[in-house]
Amino acid sequence: MPTFIKLKSAIGNLKISLLLMSLTLLLNTFFQPAEVQAQGRKPKSRPTENTNSAELPYKNAKLSINNRIEDLLGRMTLDEKIGEMTQLCASSITLDGTKKLDLNLEKIRSYILQYHVGSFLSGTGKAERWVDFITGIQKIAMTETRLGIPIIFGMDNVHGSNYTDEAIMLPHNLTLSCSFNPVLAAEAGRVTAIESADLGHHWNFAPVLDIGKNPYWPRLYETFGEDPYLCGLMGASFTKAFQECKEVAPYKMAACAKHFIGYSDPKYGWDRAPSEIPDQTIHEFFAPPFQAAFKAGIKTLMVNSGELNGEPVHGSRKILTDLLRNKMKFEGVVLTDIKDIMKMVEMHGAAHNEEEATLRAINAGIDMSMACSDVNFIAIMKKLVSEKKITVARIDTSVRRILKLKFELGLFENPYPSKARLNKIGSEENYQVALEAARESIVLLQNKNSALPLKTQSKVLLGGFAANSKRNLNGAWTLEWLGAPEDRQPAQMKTLFSALKEKLSEGSLTLADSAAENIGSPAYEAFKQQCQKADHIVLTIGEIPYSEFKGNAVDINLNPNQRKLVETALESGKPVTLIVISGRPVLFTDLARKASAVLFAGHPGQAGGEALAEILVGETNPSAKLSFSWPVASGHTVPYYTKKSEYHHRKPWEDFLPLYSFGQGESYTQFTYSNLSFSDTVLANHKTKLRAKVTVTNTGKVAGKEAVLWFLTDEVGTLTRPVKILKSVDKVYLKPNEKTTVEFLIDPLQHLSFPDAEANKLLEAGFFKVQVGTETKRFRLAKGL
Ligand code: BGC
Repeated sequence: MPTFIKLKSAIGNLKISLLLMSLTLLLNTFFQPAEVQAQGRKPKSRPTENTNSAELPYKNAKLSINNRIEDLLGRMTLDEKIGEMTQLCASSITLDGTKKLDLNLEKIRSYILQYHVGSFLSGTGKAERWVDFITGIQKIAMTETRLGIPIIFGMDNVHGSNYTDEAIMLPHNLTLSCSFNPVLAAEAGRVTAIESADLGHHWNFAPVLDIGKNPYWPRLYETFGEDPYLCGLMGASFTKAFQECKEVAPYKMAACAKHFIGYSDPKYGWDRAPSEIPDQTIHEFFAPPFQAAFKAGIKTLMVNSGELNGEPVHGSRKILTDLLRNKMKFEGVVLTDIKDIMKMVEMHGAAHNEEEATLRAINAGIDMSMACSDVNFIAIMKKLVSEKKITVARIDTSVRRILKLKFELGLFENPYPSKARLNKIGSEENYQVALEAARESIVLLQNKNSALPLKTQSKVLLGGFAANSKRNLNGAWTLEWLGAPEDRQPAQMKTLFSALKEKLSEGSLTLADSAAENIGSPAYEAFKQQCQKADHIVLTIGEIPYSEFKGNAVDINLNPNQRKLVETALESGKPVTLIVISGRPVLFTDLARKASAVLFAGHPGQAGGEALAEILVGETNPSAKLSFSWPVASGHTVPYYTKKSEYHHRKPWEDFLPLYSFGQGESYTQFTYSNLSFSDTVLANHKTKLRAKVTVTNTGKVAGKEAVLWFLTDEVGTLTRPVKILKSVDKVYLKPNEKTTVEFLIDPLQHLSFPDAEANKLLEAGFFKVQVGTETKRFRLAKGL
């Protein structure tokens, strides 16, 4: 080609290239993803680019997490970011739409590839199936997406890895809290981590940190009882052991503080019903368990589904930002409870539509929506951004937190579950933890004339609804939300009957037909006869398992059939032992007063039958104390830390006191408290500390453990003070005649102060009383703040 022609064509090409370049620039400006326009900068890679290269900074585990987050965030499109803020239920990605672990590949692909959903939750099945199920999900996230962001999978492993067939079912929290032993809560955390980490369950919606002060509330059994200090102590111990468990390496775990805040005391007792709780009370009683878990480093938090003081908590900036972030300094991921953005429309009537509710929730401070069954949240979020109602900067704040969680858990490096250690699930070692926990958690509430332990030669009649059942011991959240039916309960598990049979001599244990509760039936008539032949009658009473609103009740009196069975047993004149198996106290005051012995087992888990049998025959000396107040009658239920004036006009006392008090629990030995002494009787100011000491002696005949509970009373307060409140706990083991000194170091700022309605710390000079066991003593704080 002649030179001039070449030149002409080169100029022509240049013109075309320039034209193309300007066109591209123009198109880019118009069609940039919204967040790029908003931020005025490009994502570091285009959506079509294959960024699945190990060299990218965010994939480099040697870089700081902050650098990795910023690098990844800079590469993400708006859609990818919103997807990270979305969590769906397993039932939306299984073949039959249940929690059964058969992955629907078409659905999971669409949710991950099309909608970029970053988290899933729930499911139930065998350990191997779990590994396959979550591996299937992660493979799509890691290898088929542009950026390879791992999924985080959430579970309600609230009493062990309780949605896995082979796992050990630990006691539920209410039972466990009666041990007053944080070491057991830590063990529960450790075992839960070990039995769930390898399955891909890295995010656990536990522990519940709501204080269990309303016995009508159907989730009482999920709490660590009514006391804020005890809830914080047990919750923080669980959290630390769960999140820091080294035995699950290379995996790491995240716990979830739930349900923030004021969930557990709905005014009329029903689940998710409105709570009306003064701010001061929130700060003094409801916030401390959460604060303790924050201090323990808990990584995530779930919001209360209900409404507090007229505002749905999911839409409350006052609660989720001013209180949670600004005052309480929580920095982790805030997750909604199930479908709760939509509940602002359907349940609370606080938003006209889902769009308004979403905007309100995001403005309040939600990071992730447990949308569960649909992806409306995603479309709505995109619309809200395009309408400039939500900024990309706001979205980035939440996505940063979610990515931080994923990076901290090492999910980018270890996204896949593993079958290598599945033999650790349901191991004998873990069962022993469940057994020890149950032994220390079952409360002997009364034991007239040393009716227990059972005499070895006694003929024992065992009956009631839970005598030969596994489901009732394990409670709800066991393989199924409401507790799996008997035939799906752990195969090797003992019932109370099978466990007790092993302990008593051949032929001395009779099991009453559970149909005996049908008063007038042949089984009932047979029961009457059996009572005559028995030396001691042991009856299980209580409620069958329930979850959440399924347990709503207007009446927590013992049901009439169970009452009649107990009455029949009492009429026989034989000693009667009652074992309460239920999620909350049932009311049976008159019967309790006639019974010889009463035990509270709650839902003691898989080893509950064995632990109960050991206690009944005296192989285990009970050491638990009640972690809540047992109402004497319906209608007036009062926590032990109520105010002085609550008692002012109550006479005679015994009609008004609880049937069983917080901290009540008997032993087969006696513990004597003596020599309560103080390092000083006056504390000069908030900087000085006072050391209290007490001697505890086992003055009985058998070895045992004693929970030493330190209560404080602030005698006068400008804001009325609780009659007494727990401030410290020790659990000691003593052989007969052995004694020990137990100490409590009183720090005014920590133990004597209280918050006002704005959460400011008040510390007032005056007299305080220490109560431990039978000992009490006063001291004075000379100067407050
Ligand atoms: C409960 C939560 C639970 C969530 C996920 C909700 O109904 O309130 O406690 O974590 O479901 O299963």
